[in-house]
Amino acid sequence: MKPVNELVRDLANKHGRERHSLLPILQGVVEQEHYLSELSMIEIARELNISATEVYGTASFYSFLEHRKMGRYVIRICKTITCSMKGEKIILQAIEDMLKIKLGETSSDGNFSLVQTNCLGFCHKAPAMLINNEVYTELTPEKVREILSGYLNKREEESNVN
Ligand code: FES
Repeated sequence: MKPVNELVRDLANKHGRERHSLLPILQGVVEQEHYLSELSMIEIARELNISATEVYGTASFYSFLEHRKMGRYVIRICKTITCSMKGEKIILQAIEDMLKIKLGETSSDGNFSLVQTNCLGFCHKAPAMLINNEVYTELTPEKVREILSGYLNKREEESNVN
């Protein structure tokens, strides 16, 4: 993993140093770091020659750009009306029970964070959630348990290899 200043410099080389380069750079940082630290926002401001407040303002506008350290897998449950009417609460409960974390928390092993998000554009297949960039739809508690088991097994396999 690259140090943040190197990462920001490489991203700026790739996306440019204009104002419109800010969002792809923020996304690039989140991809590697899983969140935006204060240091990374300062580095971005320095690299693009804009104020740190401007970087922070843009970052906080987008709920996908986290400012807290997040788990390796970020589960985002859609809380918008269709999903909420189609059982978002029981899905949330199933996840909380299985991972032993509450909404807004990260598991103690750092593997999973659980947050809510606005409409993911899959209302016709509600309820929906994202795990990192993967979309899961038409969720039921059983389906969610199956999906999460897949992620838990993946983690176990990885730690056996390392
Ligand atoms: Fe949940 Fe649209 S309301 S995906």
